[in-house]
Amino acid sequence: MKNIYPNILKSNLKNLYRAKKNIENNNIIGLPTETVYGLAGNAYSNKSVKKIFHIKKRPSYNPLIIHFKNLKNAKKDVVINNNFLKLYSVLCPGPITFILKKKHTSKISKIASAKKKTIAIRFPKHNVAKKLLGLLKFPLAAPSANISSKLSPTSPNDVVDEFKDKIKIILDGGKSKIGLESTIIDLTNKPRILRPGSITSEKISKILNKRVTIYKKTKEIKSPGQLKIHYSPGIPVKMNRIINSNKNEALIVFGKIYKKSNKYFNLSKKGDLNEAANNLYKILRKIKNKGFKSIAVNKIPNVGIGIAINDRLRKASNK
Ligand code: TXA
Ligand code: MG
Repeated sequence: MKNIYPNILKSNLKNLYRAKKNIENNNIIGLPTETVYGLAGNAYSNKSVKKIFHIKKRPSYNPLIIHFKNLKNAKKDVVINNNFLKLYSVLCPGPITFILKKKHTSKISKIASAKKKTIAIRFPKHNVAKKLLGLLKFPLAAPSANISSKLSPTSPNDVVDEFKDKIKIILDGGKSKIGLESTIIDLTNKPRILRPGSITSEKISKILNKRVTIYKKTKEIKSPGQLKIHYSPGIPVKMNRIINSNKNEALIVFGKIYKKSNKYFNLSKKGDLNEAANNLYKILRKIKNKGFKSIAVNKIPNVGIGIAINDRLRKASNK
């Protein structure tokens, strides 16, 4: 199929070098990862990081995740501990982000870390992200490539849908394999999950051999991804519904259904939660672009990655 978007580039070596050069010149690019697409820039450069905040319309108090190619490099910027090493050895590279204490000598832009004493770090698994990091002498600050509070992108076209031609280079890494953002775990104290993801609390508990809780909201916002309205398609989302209540409402279904309708969108006909997670943002985006006025969603089992799906739906529905 012909590529109708000139800013979406094949991830060949020539374009990886083009992306490298752009990033070294403090520009930002669209970067594929295994979770969602990111908006990547030099994490050591205030200028790059400012561009990320500006283009995303992200509040300055909401810090970015810093992406590293390996442990050796990460150790320059954060203080590591035993829990981290245990999880790193089993799960990395992969869809998990660790909150750790920032080193005094760290070169990470203070704007990127929103002046916090901690930094969120991640080691992406996607080949293109790994290759690009391999070419660079610094880590990449990369939040999800969407306007703040909106849906995360899971394909290069979604990044264009969000930013049109404002991002000059989007490396094509295909459809995101997971389709939901990484699990975030705070390891600065007793391990706590701040954002559920495809790596579940059960899996983490098993590796650490201790109970790991999922942080629920309190007055204090620990991870601003926990801001009330987030991951939003821009129209009301209603959870745990069996039917749609009017003709302008789409219904997201899960599993086998017996009625056919062009207002029904199935997350997974097989009832597979991983497939549902992978389809979630794509379907929400599709429904928004079709002009529906609201979205009703079937009950999604709250187990495994279903916990992350419900977390995103709850925030999209402002509950
Ligand atoms: O899967 C992912 O994590 C994607 C890909 C591109 O890597 N990135 C992503 O970034 O989801 P973003 O910026 O959309 O979400 C990062 C979350 C935010 O909710 C932010 O508040 C939280 O991480 N965060 C960053 N630094 C933090 C810190 N020091 N303490 C607590 N939360 C932090
Ligand atoms: Mg995000």
